[in-house]
Amino acid sequence: MNSAIRNIRLDRDVAPGDFRDAMRHLAGGVSVITVGRGKDITGMTVTSVSSLSVDPPSLIVSINRASSSWPLLQRLGFFGVNILTADQLDVAERFTGKGGLKGAERFAGAEWIPGASGVPLLTGALAAIDCEVEDIVERHSHAIVIGRVLELRLSSRTAALAYWQGQYVAIDQNEDAVRLAEVSVPAPRAQRKF
Ligand SMILES: Cc1cc2nc3c(=O)[nH]c(=O)nc-3n(C[C@H](O)[C@H](O)[C@H](O)COP(=O)(O)O)c2cc1C
Repeated sequence: MNSAIRNIRLDRDVAPGDFRDAMRHLAGGVSVITVGRGKDITGMTVTSVSSLSVDPPSLIVSINRASSSWPLLQRLGFFGVNILTADQLDVAERFTGKGGLKGAERFAGAEWIPGASGVPLLTGALAAIDCEVEDIVERHSHAIVIGRVLELRLSSRTAALAYWQGQYVAIDQNEDAVRLAEVSVPAPRAQRKF
């Protein structure tokens, strides 16, 4: 075990339900992870995508090992990250597996063009990113997957899809930036990293 990892003992166990309630407060951008190639494809809606490093370009995503995407991702070693626009809410819904949709059925109703690795990338996504699996950390029910970016496709759209408090929320750069500017507090110079 990594020396930086230690077991944390608490006087009282934290109930999973309480933890879930706490995490509902964390707003997350909605993406669809795609895996496979040709007709052997599937994917899933996630909010756990996060940038890992800019140089080299790499990201992480947390994937449930019981999901239908996991075996294909592990076997082929590639995945797509499709960062959704607010008007791609229907795509997000399909990739949660709602209504029993499975595999290639989830891709119907939207345009997908394969990336360099062969994974389907969503046309019109805010960003569509083709990744090669660089490393996997399996922990509890999930796996943290580190992806090295192979290819990027960007769109000029401005409205993002987020998930917060158990519901989808649209964030529009043009409309919401004005409202946010009214309530925002400038960060001290030393903290302005982004
Ligand atoms: C808004 C939202 C975010 C989600 N984020 C994740 C995630 O980060 N990781 C994950 O493993 N599952 C996540 N899920 C659940 C998967 O989308 C869902 O379990 C999966 O698509 C269905 O699994 P299946 O492919 O086995 O049918 C999320 C679901 C929703 C609605």
